[in-house]
Amino acid sequence: MGKSAKIVILTGAGISAESGLSTFRDEGGLWAQHRIEDVATPEGFARNPDLVHRFYNARRAQAAEARPNAAHQALARLQREHPGEVVIVTQNVDTLHEAGGAADVLHMHGRLEGAVCATCGHSWTAPMEMQTGHPCPACAAPAGRPGVVWFGEMPYFMEEIYTHLADADLFAAIGTSGEVYPAAAFVDEAHLAGAHTVELNLEPSATASRFAERRFGPATETVPAWVAGLLG
Ligand code: APR
Repeated sequence: MGKSAKIVILTGAGISAESGLSTFRDEGGLWAQHRIEDVATPEGFARNPDLVHRFYNARRAQAAEARPNAAHQALARLQREHPGEVVIVTQNVDTLHEAGGAADVLHMHGRLEGAVCATCGHSWTAPMEMQTGHPCPACAAPAGRPGVVWFGEMPYFMEEIYTHLADADLFAAIGTSGEVYPAAAFVDEAHLAGAHTVELNLEPSATASRFAERRFGPATETVPAWVAGLLG
């Protein structure tokens, strides 16, 4: 791969699994414990905000205890040592990429550490525990909600992400099931741009066949090996 090749990486819950954070669709995952419509939609929040705050308070507490693993650290090493641009786009709302040393991570589904006002859109750093009626520091409305993107809402940074995909020489998807759009179609955008595409996952994702290359195994094994190969 050329020295200044641009690398665009999409990560999902699988990259944080070995740090102890639950994924969504694996055995016993978050969507086996909760109904998406109850805890990850604006309608669910309007119907029962206490339940939604309890769900995200528990995930915020779990994330606060988690440590970055070798896969997060390997991607930070790639950003540091690869001469070309390395862009990390994540669907994850934990900040283990940053804790592992990565920079400028694009959190397309927001972050657990963020809170946003359902009335005026102001965002601020969430306390560990959020309650229903949490007042907005900007407009004072009792409308604080977790700063994460729910189903039916627009992900963040989409224009910027598509620009990166159009310029990519190499695209990798790591630890994602390829079940949720628009992220699941990033591989097609990258392929259209002429990028080489690789999936690094525990098992074939729903979009596995759309990748030119596939490497299976736990991220803490496959990602450091992949990065070592790229850095030669
Ligand atoms: N190493 C590598 N991959 C793993 C590991 C591991 N140790 N453990 C699990 N995986 C893989 C699984 O095989 C699965 O393909 O990670 C993927 C996790 O898939 P999901 O649980 O569906 O998580 P994700 O793809 O990130 O979900 C996307 O869906 O619910 C929404 O907003 C939520 O961002 C999330 C989005």
